[in-house]
Amino acid sequence: MLKFDVGNLRRGAHGDCVIRPRRNRQSAAIRALVRETTLTPADFILPIFLHEESCDTPLDSMPGVTRWSLASLVREAGEAMALGIPAVVLFPKIEENLKSPRGEECHNDDGLVPRAIRALKAAHPELCVITDVALDPYNSDGHDGVVRRDARGRLSVINDETVGILCRQALSHARAGADIVAPSDMMDGRVGAIRSALDAEGFTEVSILSYTAKYASAFYGPFRGALDSAPKEGDKLGYQMDPANLREALREAMLDEDEGADMLMVKPAGFYLDVITRIRETSTLPVAAYQVSGEYLMIKSAAAAGWLDEKAAVIESLTAIKRAGASMILSYFAMQAARWMRER
Ligand code: PBG
Repeated sequence: MLKFDVGNLRRGAHGDCVIRPRRNRQSAAIRALVRETTLTPADFILPIFLHEESCDTPLDSMPGVTRWSLASLVREAGEAMALGIPAVVLFPKIEENLKSPRGEECHNDDGLVPRAIRALKAAHPELCVITDVALDPYNSDGHDGVVRRDARGRLSVINDETVGILCRQALSHARAGADIVAPSDMMDGRVGAIRSALDAEGFTEVSILSYTAKYASAFYGPFRGALDSAPKEGDKLGYQMDPANLREALREAMLDEDEGADMLMVKPAGFYLDVITRIRETSTLPVAAYQVSGEYLMIKSAAAAGWLDEKAAVIESLTAIKRAGASMILSYFAMQAARWMRER
């Protein structure tokens, strides 16, 4: 009887190795043919910081990133489009005197974000404009929702009252012309509430990109510096997810899908590739991943010190996020990466 012998197969007639995976890596041409994941500028969403001032401010906390005036923001978005990047997401720095405990400025139709949306849409009608829905830039406590102190003196963010305000914020973005609203607050039930609020005002075509699995991460530090939006007191552990949890992310994904989300986001990205993969397998919705400010800075600072090859490290990090299952990637490297792809 013929015995199946793996050893024989591998060794071949003359006892040498037959199965040689390296044949598929031997030239750039063959590597191109067998490549499983290819990044394109169309995968990217560019996060853009903006402020009320007429100057542009390079950010100390994020080298290579700038907070733009309205006029520059429109130009920057135009450059992104020219590079093939289809979407931007807006992050405003709100003046201190406009911040309040209930963050009313977040639904001012003449506020910074609605004006930015209108300016972007007027200049670039084809650009997909995404807005962040959460109170932290507007809230005098620096939290994503309304803060209360309970009888024991413990701070907590009030869920349902916050959701009502988030609905007003999303509506004000929709009225200004936003294509997608992206709630990043992690309140319970906000996707469903925002969906009904949008539909009730006739904005059935405005999409919801839910920050489904947003972890309470140390890697948001530089972003909070860029917007002066760090919590004044306490932390975000009572609403953002515990980095130790994966099954909980699937629970959030199921809820968001049921509540009518159009896309699901995982954030941060690089340390949470397993979460991206599992959500991708569990849901049929497209998955977005956010390579956050701390991930950006890790590569940026190591490259500045001469310890890493920036281009190679950036492309590798973004490719890994796409390989894990992300259909779109929010990254501060988006413009630079798109330029590099163009050179290739
Ligand atoms: C706020 C928000 C944060 C980020 C995006 N939206 C900060 C936070 O939750 O504290 C972080 C993005 C980054 O670090 O690049 N809702």
